[in-house]
Amino acid sequence: MDAKRHRLIVVSNRLPLVFKRDAEGEWHAESGSGGLVSALVPVLRNRGGTWIGWPGTSEADGELGQALSEASDEAGYMLRPVSLTAEDVRDFYLGFSNEVVWPLFHDLPSLCNFEPAYWRAYQSVNRKYAQAIVDNQVRDTDFIWVHDYHLMNVALELRLLKCMARTGFFLHIPFPPPDLFLKMPWCRQIIGALLAFDLVGFQTLRDRRNFVQCVRALDSQVEFEGRGQMITARVGTRVVRIGAFPISIDFKDYARRAAAPEVAEKVADLRRLLPKCNLVLGIDRLDYTKGIPHRLRAFQSLMQRHPELRERISLIQVVVPSRVDIPSYNDLKLNIEQLVARINGEFQRPGGWVPVWYVYGSLTSLELLAYYRAADIALITPLKDGMNLVAKEYCACSVESDCALILSQFAGAASQLGEGALLVNPFDIEGVADAIQQAECMDVGERRARMRRMRHSIRRSDIYDWVNTFMKAAFASDLSAFPLPEHPLAIVDGEVPAL
Ligand code: UDP
Ligand code: G6P
Repeated sequence: MDAKRHRLIVVSNRLPLVFKRDAEGEWHAESGSGGLVSALVPVLRNRGGTWIGWPGTSEADGELGQALSEASDEAGYMLRPVSLTAEDVRDFYLGFSNEVVWPLFHDLPSLCNFEPAYWRAYQSVNRKYAQAIVDNQVRDTDFIWVHDYHLMNVALELRLLKCMARTGFFLHIPFPPPDLFLKMPWCRQIIGALLAFDLVGFQTLRDRRNFVQCVRALDSQVEFEGRGQMITARVGTRVVRIGAFPISIDFKDYARRAAAPEVAEKVADLRRLLPKCNLVLGIDRLDYTKGIPHRLRAFQSLMQRHPELRERISLIQVVVPSRVDIPSYNDLKLNIEQLVARINGEFQRPGGWVPVWYVYGSLTSLELLAYYRAADIALITPLKDGMNLVAKEYCACSVESDCALILSQFAGAASQLGEGALLVNPFDIEGVADAIQQAECMDVGERRARMRRMRHSIRRSDIYDWVNTFMKAAFASDLSAFPLPEHPLAIVDGEVPAL
């Protein structure tokens, strides 16, 4: 099969734009934050297609429809909304997605709230998304590409609606090992639902292996074949392809935009504010998985143990607002603010150097590029992360290749950038402090050699390469070991057989 002949339908919890009413009651759109949106926007712009998702509001009226249609014209691809009620948002999005799956898949089971009502909402909202796909006149020759942990049940629901289009799923976050995954009361159903897709993709080989181990732990009937990046699973009469597809960025676009004169001007402004000071940069959504308090403590430890670096180095920590309706996110915000105040209180002197610059808010694209270019060191230390695109964007924007990247060993990006980055354990406060000191003292020759290696690797495996690899896997005809049956899933009287 030729992937190019198939229309692309991307489905994710969110559309790339969040619609809000302004003071006059008019709809206006803001760009959504996070890696999923950043990665998929260039894909849709490049290939065209339809993007189905939630427009970020529970209101739905003709004016919103009009705003969406204008946004579609501007984007160059179709934006199709899925309406979620306030209860859906509470129990499916804030509840199951962000109080069960998100913490569990990021190795934080103690933060999980396994509320049974959340699971029911998850099932019913996934059904809504499947219905929205079908309502958009999907053809059996279309390729339906579902993204991320909010929508793991969609293929199962599509089959119940007799939709026979080929389906792929990509998980942007890590997949946990069995000792964590099996804690979820609905683990068996989730595994069954994921195996209803034709292709299931993960960020890293580690995630892919974790998934296989979970399937093995829950269903001894599933047979696996193959090794390495891509393997196949026989599930009854069906074949499911399972692979690792590390997501990436539009390298050339970042590198080109970062070299623009208006970015250089903004960098100069920033430098004037922070003279004679090397800049260490952290940019993260407000999220407890990003390790921001640990990172601040590492910076504090550096200042305490290396007084010679005081007044020579500042940390700029940008925190992008996220999921503010979840109490643990708000607690985290307070914790970060207290830590910043404590560190500045400990080391700052009136009228002088500021150890930590804290920015809470969304950046414009110009500001983002300027921060990337101005920073001498990027300090990216998530406790766990599917990939972490900020790390790749930083390297792409380092057009002079004279900067250093300190990266958590628990970010998916570490497996690709490990040869150039200084890899750290984000829980090791003094170890991270030592890495900052090492990066600060690293000679420019070593910085360049490391940065060039990372830039080369990201340029070679960019977002377009990621899409092509995924699409090729979805339409691969080399399934000689397990020929594809006519129907992707055996359906008995409208019921999908349970695992
Ligand atoms: N980003 C954003 N708004 C900002 C600053 C950054 O949307 O104000 C983008 C950033 O460029 C990156 C994404 O958010 O593409 C973060 O992706 P990452 O994979 O690092 O983490 P995630 O937020 O998806 O967990
Ligand atoms: C991560 C997730 C995305 C999510 C994004 C922003 O990148 O993988 O699926 O969209 O965070 O989170 P939000 O809850 O605002 O959609």
